[in-house]
Parts: sequence; C-alpha cells; structure tokens
Amino acid sequence: MTNLILLGPPGAGKGTQAKRLEEKYSLVQLSTGDMLRAEVKSGSDLGKQAKEIMESGGLVSDEIIIGMISGRIDQDDCKGGFILDGFPRTVPQAEALDTMLKDKSINMDHVIELEVDDEAMIERICGRFTCSKCGAGFHDKFQPLEKEGVCDKCGATEFTRRADDNEETVRARLVAYHEQTAPIAAYYGNRGILKRVDGMAEIDAVTRQLEEIVG
Ligand code: AP5
Repeated sequence: MTNLILLGPPGAGKGTQAKRLEEKYSLVQLSTGDMLRAEVKSGSDLGKQAKEIMESGGLVSDEIIIGMISGRIDQDDCKGGFILDGFPRTVPQAEALDTMLKDKSINMDHVIELEVDDEAMIERICGRFTCSKCGAGFHDKFQPLEKEGVCDKCGATEFTRRADDNEETVRARLVAYHEQTAPIAAYYGNRGILKRVDGMAEIDAVTRQLEEIVG
C-alpha cells in the first residue's frame, strides 16, 4: 500500500499523472477539485458556496475541505492506498492532514512536487478538455485526440472545458498558489520527506520520474 501527495501549481500535471499512477499501482485519486466540482454540479449547499470561489480563482475554506477529505479517506476503496491531488493546499490543511493521518494510523509515503514554470501553465490549462462520458483528459496541443471529435478511450463525442480554465482565472489561481500553497513545500521539505520532479518534461517522462520514486 502506498499513499502519496502530488504538489504543484494549477496545470502542473497533478491530475494527468495521478490518473496514470492510479492505474499502474491500483491507487485511488483523491482530487479535492473534482470533489468540489461534483458538489457544484449536484447543486448542494456546499457546491453553491464553492462555485463562486472556484470561478474567481480563490480557495474554498480549510474547514470545508478538511471535513470532505477526512470522510473520503475513511472509505473502503482508500485502504489500498491513495493519491492526494490538490490537497493539502494551505499550511493549516497540511497540519490538519498530519493530525488526521495520525488519528487514523495511516502513513504518508511520498510528497512529490511537480516543478514547472508559471507562464507555461496558462497554455496548458487553456487548452485542456475532458470527455463528458468517461472523464479522460486531453489537450488541444499536448494530448490531442487521435480522431477529431472522438474520445480515444470510450468513443464518446461530447467534451467539456472547466469554467475556471480561462486566462484571467488561471492567473488568480497562480497567485493563490504562490501565496497560500507554495509554503507547503517548505513544510514537508523541513521534515525531509519532499521529493521534486521536473514537471516541464514531456508527460511520459514525468510519469517515469514518478514511477522511479513510487517504485
Ligand atoms: P483543482 O481542480 O485542484 O485545480 P488546480 O490545482 O488548479 O489544478 P488543475 O486541475 O488545474 O491542474 P493539474 O495540475 O491537475 O493539471 P492537469 O494534469 O490537468 O482546483 C480547482 C479549484 O478548486 C481551486 O482553484 C479552488 O478554488 C478549489 N480547491 C480545490 N482543492 C482545494 C483545497 N484543497 N483547498 C481549497 N480550495 C480548493 O494538466 C493540465 C493540462 O496540461 C492538461 O490538458 C494536460 O494534458 C497538460 N499537461 C499535463 N502535463 C503536461 C506536460 N508534462 N507537458 C505538456 N502538457 C501537460
């Protein structure tokens, strides 16, 4: 069983790589962004609160996020190992995660930061789209469809782009990242459990670097 955290700014490739590691090592991807988007889609109270914050590029409150992830880690499918994608995102979230893991007697094996250049993230995010049926991720330039208009994985023909994937919001998300999330690297670095990989390499090369760490 392996548990790991993927750190990195919006567009660093956390989701792309988490899906690959999930398949290869039979882990569960826990993306707080995906969980929040599901809440928004369902129209729940939490979703209503989160929608505006997400579309402005800000961060949803620590309290909501911590409760959401704690409940999710308790579910049976996480017992074989999980990948945290997009969490923790503030130092209080990292501290709460430590307490949570200790209480649940769970070990964190790897904290891995994908190192990237901010400016490249705008192009990555603004060109991203997802299959509406199976959720497979693609990119206009970096991960194009093999056959135009048809999902490589399931053959569906409908795709979606995220409401927060526009240049203005991405810039606000990058500011939030540097102000509130980047200090987490030092938090884990000081404890000697942080590893870094070159997130600017091609997608397959990043996967190989991660597989070397995960083993
Ligand atoms: P979230 O959904 O977590 O978004 P994010 O962190 O902004 O990350 P992204 O999903 O945009 O990027 P990614 O690193 O997964 O990149 P991807 O693999 O898709 O959060 C959204 C919002 O929810 C937040 O703004 C906040 O409001 C809220 N939220 C979520 N968690 C929260 C928390 N813990 N606390 C408070 N608020 C929270 O890659 C991007 C594109 O690039 C893809 O198209 C891919 O094909 C391409 N690509 C990937 N890798 C490469 C590569 N190596 N080379 C070329 N292209 C690549």
